[in-house]
Amino acid sequence: MAEFADNRIPAHGMDAAAVLARLDEFAADDRDWRGGRVFSLVYDAGDDVRDLLTRAAARYAAENALNTMAFPSLGWMQHDIVTITTGLLGGDRRPGGSSGVRGYLTSGGTESLLQATKTARDWGRAERGVDHPNMVLATSAHAAFAKASHYFDVESRRVPVRPDGSADVDAMADAVDDRTVLVVGSAPSYPQGVIDPIPELGALAAERGVLCHVDACLGGFILPFLGTLGHVTKPWDLSVPGVTSISADLHKYGYASKGVSVILYGDKELARFQPFVTTDWLGGLYGSPSMAGTRPGGPIAAGWAVLHHLGADGYLRLAADAHRAASVLRACIEATPGIGLRGVPDATVFAFGGTDGPGGVDTFALGDALAERGGWFFDRQTPPDSLHATVHAGHAAVVEDLCADLAAATAELARTGARAADRGTTYGTV
Ligand SMILES: Cc1ncc(COP(=O)(O)O)c(C=O)c1O
Repeated sequence: MAEFADNRIPAHGMDAAAVLARLDEFAADDRDWRGGRVFSLVYDAGDDVRDLLTRAAARYAAENALNTMAFPSLGWMQHDIVTITTGLLGGDRRPGGSSGVRGYLTSGGTESLLQATKTARDWGRAERGVDHPNMVLATSAHAAFAKASHYFDVESRRVPVRPDGSADVDAMADAVDDRTVLVVGSAPSYPQGVIDPIPELGALAAERGVLCHVDACLGGFILPFLGTLGHVTKPWDLSVPGVTSISADLHKYGYASKGVSVILYGDKELARFQPFVTTDWLGGLYGSPSMAGTRPGGPIAAGWAVLHHLGADGYLRLAADAHRAASVLRACIEATPGIGLRGVPDATVFAFGGTDGPGGVDTFALGDALAERGGWFFDRQTPPDSLHATVHAGHAAVVEDLCADLAAATAELARTGARAADRGTTYGTV
């Protein structure tokens, strides 16, 4: 690993080739995701998409979406991405059509969820006079909502999920009160890949006069295609009555470079609560759609490029590949004694681990064994202890190898009864 510099900028510059060589040295310690052995952190659509992303991001590496008067192309690309996403996420199937739908790009799922929460807080304050707002969400809703609660002082009311991993709408209804501004559903949830009952959540929100955000950060760019292929039939998008906003990450199943997510509002009046505008300083009008000031052009350009390069037929092909790989992995988990799925996943995301009782192996020991056997990297989560698999198209080529390692590692653990000493979980690090 690299040695740290001693708190000083190097006295003399290094030539570019030497700097790039150092980066390659650093990266030698990183997981090699290109072969499909890393889950959940990287989405890979193959060499040609990777090459396009690199070139598009490099082309716009210096441009700044802070001010689209200087870089109108970034304004136009953002508009085009929002428009395409509106069509994908059911915006034009809303009762009044898509004319009221408005959207923004953010840097990722977390920022989209922060914005959805801040919008709800400001809407509640302005339209309902709510001064100590709360939001009601399942325990499966993403951790970014906990961050949003902390940042924006919106009380978070987490309600346990049902045994299948889905949001318990009746229990959530009990948690709604006159200070509730937002009800959240996931499509699907990260921990167990379950699509919440969005029609029921939308109806609850509409009945109680509150907002309903669908976190489709994970599913937004694959569920439409899995729907076309007939693999997903549950309603989950902006066309569902009562849903007021939705988020979808291009940098997940949109296969874009990191740093681009979309948030859409079903109503333009609601969308006005998201941006921040001030003239209260000496630098002129500061209008900003999201958290960041300077907003890198690279992810926007790469996101636009991949959407247009793949098109509907490309995304359909990738969705079919991801679904096939997920089905194979799921079947081998279900067929292997000693391990099983957690909850009842809907699509290509799921969690698995040792079963309870005799014959069940230790989940984290299984994670260690898979890393050792084949360099497989799974996020570890709890409760319950599980390994997390976000299966994407790039896994199709290696899923049979994974199944073989899974069967062998589980059989060995069943024999030895080994338990991992390290019980730590690993979603994100500081
Ligand atoms: C359902 C869901 N929401 C939000 C996020 C947060 O996205 P990001 O890591 O881009 O901030 C994730 C990340 O996996 C997710 O799965």
